[in-house]
Amino acid sequence: MEKYLINPNQKISTIHKDIYGHFSEHLGRCIYEGLFVGKDSSIPNVNGMRCDVVNALKEMGIPVLRWPGGCFADEYHWKDGIGAPENRKKMINTHWGGLVEDNSFGTHEFFELCEQLGCDPYINGNVGSGTVQEMSEWVEYMTFDGLSPMSEWRKANGREKPWVVKYFGVGNENWGCGGNFLPEDYAQEFLRYNTYVRNYDRNNKIYRVCCGPNAEDYHWTDKVMWRARHKIDGLSLHYYTVPHGWGGRGAATVFSEDMYYVTVTCAYKIDEIITRHLEIMSKYDPEHRVDLIVDEWGTWFDVEEGTNPGFLYQQNTMRDAMVAGLTLNIFNKHSDRIRMANIAQTVNVLQAVVLTDGEDMLLTPTYHVFKMYKDHQKNTLLGSYLTSDKIECEGLKMPKLIESASMDDNGTIYSTIVNVSLDEAKEIKCQIADSTVKSVRAEIVTGKMDDHNTFENKEVVRTQEFTDFALTADGFTANVPPCSVVKFVVER
Ligand code: AHR
Repeated sequence: MEKYLINPNQKISTIHKDIYGHFSEHLGRCIYEGLFVGKDSSIPNVNGMRCDVVNALKEMGIPVLRWPGGCFADEYHWKDGIGAPENRKKMINTHWGGLVEDNSFGTHEFFELCEQLGCDPYINGNVGSGTVQEMSEWVEYMTFDGLSPMSEWRKANGREKPWVVKYFGVGNENWGCGGNFLPEDYAQEFLRYNTYVRNYDRNNKIYRVCCGPNAEDYHWTDKVMWRARHKIDGLSLHYYTVPHGWGGRGAATVFSEDMYYVTVTCAYKIDEIITRHLEIMSKYDPEHRVDLIVDEWGTWFDVEEGTNPGFLYQQNTMRDAMVAGLTLNIFNKHSDRIRMANIAQTVNVLQAVVLTDGEDMLLTPTYHVFKMYKDHQKNTLLGSYLTSDKIECEGLKMPKLIESASMDDNGTIYSTIVNVSLDEAKEIKCQIADSTVKSVRAEIVTGKMDDHNTFENKEVVRTQEFTDFALTADGFTANVPPCSVVKFVVER
């Protein structure tokens, strides 16, 4: 029996809603087909945004959306994506499949999408191939209410009032596709570009995201924090779960048990990576003014057979659900320093929550985990500890059980537990300090490691009621099945 302690007296931090954020790039069928079909489409839509996907994302509680990239952001020229759609410039999407990008989804459409989703916008600017003037004018176009060339242009394009830009990224992956900078050089460029990202409106103080490291590149974090920390609000980390690296990551749905364990241990490594980057950030910023942002994370497998390799379309199994569940628990536990995270990418790309096929749509196992975890948004992270034996795999170690616990304003406690073992159910005894428990209800996402939803059968993996638990005076006991994500809701 594993011991699980939750302490409602130990209130650690607020879990920012934006930790549950998403990312949508002009890549493959994410924006076009996935989110945006155009007003004339036979697929039901409102102003071009497909209704089925928008409704599903709202249900899931999407809090923030990052756009337009990704690598695409550093070759995106925003002026090509405004005005009458038929007059918009066409370009080649050189990063992703070499297809023609007709710019029919641009700034106005992105804000329309966010309004329909009820989520906050996170815009990523172009440092790699854009100019300071271009970035500065984009911010003016979006956020200035007075008389200026850009605000007049926005009005002429049909939007009278400025929008609120909550987050703005000054470049993306500038250590790679965003210009191949050295960290010192990028830090200097960040300072220069950021100077002209003006706060035009007292009510719209833009939160500035600086390009941070790729995975374990601690040198990047060190140099960028050293040079630019005073002007950074959030430093962005990218970490993908790529089992066996780019050469050996394998298929999304066909994999061995060994590969399953390689994947989950690889995903779990993010905990150590976050901890080490935070230590470096603390060296330069002992007050912890600068947040960590994880604005790209998720699994990256081989594309589905027969699909364009540049579209990064992959299916999504229980293995992805486990990665999502354990990663979100890790983010919750670091919520004193992590302000936002964005899984890559919302629809039809990498670890998507929604897949589409023409007018059809399905929800992936990852979707069900996000929806289950939405209760954590804005809650208070509580001190908690769960004993667990460990898995060892190719030099990496992780506990079989990974949890986090939070409390809402009414004192209700939400605990999410992931059991990554493929063959062992885990009995746990949970004790909640200074509490008398009135009731517990629970939900589960579980299945075989490669179970997934298809357009023929969309309900193979779904959220179900979980009943294998019993109340005790100050908590509960439960039998958590292998390969599962479980949420307990405890009323006291
Ligand atoms: O999400 C796909 C790509 O991965 C993004 O465009 C880029 O930022 C990262 O390398």
